[in-house]
Amino acid sequence: MDKEKIIVIDFGGQYNQLVARRVRECHVYCEIYSYKTDLGKIKEMAPKGIILTGGPNSVYEENAAKCSEELFHLGIPVLGLCYGAQLMMHLLGGSVCKAPVREYGRIEVTVDQTSPLFGDVSEKTICWMSHNDYIEKAAPGFRTIAHTADCPVAAAENEEQNLYAIQFHPEVLHTAEGKKMLHNFVYEVCHCSGDWKMDAFVENTIQEIRKKVGSGKVLCALSGGVDSSVAAVLLAKAVGDQLTCVFVDHGLLRKDEGDQVEAVFGPEGPYNLKFIRVNAQKRFYSKLAGVEEPERKRKIIGEEFIRVFEEEAKKIGTVDFLVQGTIYPDVVESGLGGESAVIKSHHNVGGLPDYVDFKEIIEPLRNLFKDEVRKAGLELGIPDYLVYRQPFPGPGLGIRIIGEVTAEKVKIVQEADAIYREEIAKAGFDRSIGQYFAALTNMRSVGVMGDERTYDYAVALRAVNTIDFMTAEAAEIPWEVLGKVANRIVNEVKHVNRVFYDCTGKPPATIEFE
Ligand code: XMP
Repeated sequence: MDKEKIIVIDFGGQYNQLVARRVRECHVYCEIYSYKTDLGKIKEMAPKGIILTGGPNSVYEENAAKCSEELFHLGIPVLGLCYGAQLMMHLLGGSVCKAPVREYGRIEVTVDQTSPLFGDVSEKTICWMSHNDYIEKAAPGFRTIAHTADCPVAAAENEEQNLYAIQFHPEVLHTAEGKKMLHNFVYEVCHCSGDWKMDAFVENTIQEIRKKVGSGKVLCALSGGVDSSVAAVLLAKAVGDQLTCVFVDHGLLRKDEGDQVEAVFGPEGPYNLKFIRVNAQKRFYSKLAGVEEPERKRKIIGEEFIRVFEEEAKKIGTVDFLVQGTIYPDVVESGLGGESAVIKSHHNVGGLPDYVDFKEIIEPLRNLFKDEVRKAGLELGIPDYLVYRQPFPGPGLGIRIIGEVTAEKVKIVQEADAIYREEIAKAGFDRSIGQYFAALTNMRSVGVMGDERTYDYAVALRAVNTIDFMTAEAAEIPWEVLGKVANRIVNEVKHVNRVFYDCTGKPPATIEFE
């Protein structure tokens, strides 16, 4: 495909995904490749520009991640960032060594505004630095275009050959004018036209899928979550009824969720795909009967899910492709670099490929962040309620019910959760809170309803704000909202007479409530 793109060569730095994302924000398509990627392949891709990322090594170490020097002589503009900058200097004859003063954090940098990289950038600008080594002397043919109090070469350029090296990280927001610098590289150095937008991504991806799939058969495990929904719609638009989506309703979905998924993907929906809804509620409930231990519940749900899926897949027979809604944050770097990436098993329907007879996996969203996936979803015309769906764990309500899972308890938690979500949305917090849901404690206590004594369950409400889902803080929800939710739940949901709000963060608690 000869669409305009910039590639990022990954040397194992922590901000690499951000670099690609910033380029895409400049409306130029961008992908990440491992530093081990063959030079021939890079030439074939003919990118408009190449960005070398940061990384944990020192360029002068024996086993340091390196690229071929030839990369700088392809006639393609190259921008080296941090380690990438040092590597460029090192390979082209400059000198890199341990810095006498290690720079870390926000540092004032003085830039030469006559460089194309720094057009429109303030002469003194705050940049994010994080390095132990520094460029002591730029390579021959380069001129220094930025410095700090402790770093004589904070940036260097060889304008004729379109080579640029910068010691700091323009991709992080702490670098005040970093976006401008990347924009300058993309437009002033690489001369991109900037015609990439989400609609172009969608259109190009559909074309690519068509080419790849040909007349093959495609199978998709649809969960109803954002990622698998967007992946399924892309496939459906590309190959129509060559796609079969299997949606397993394990009876642990949120209220009406199964019907909502069916409304979009089923025969009444707008897509001409084969949709199989497996109503396996009873199977799951009977496997879960009497089981209280959370890890056991997870295992049972996971194993049963695979079994159901496998049975359906067998009915379909051999398929050529299996679709997965893997997105960038699911991709875990094994060693280094995007090329050698493997998939996290925990967050996906782990193990599926072992159970299904297929030739190849298709992962159309592999290079996108969550918010980009959402934009693609909107572009594809997927309803808002699916696109903005919160994270929902594979084991579903099975891990939001303490103790044994029963059909009755599922119903209670579904109703309570629906009320909670409705009121949060009414209060206008539905897009600002990271994740929120109702869970069912296993606690029953005495209450009074009318003149009658009750002995019923307590519902726990959870709401957290989080950036990475590794740590989280309980969200502050106004009392009037919580009060209204509590009031509605005890009045409208049978067998609930108390409502708690969980104020714990993660750690020590987890986000889920199991
Ligand atoms: P915890 O409870 O571990 O959750 O703090 C962190 C995030 O991960 C989600 N989660 C899961 N997602 N399968 C999933 O797809 C799972 O088994 C699973 N367990 C937890 C959880 O909803 C939260 O967003």
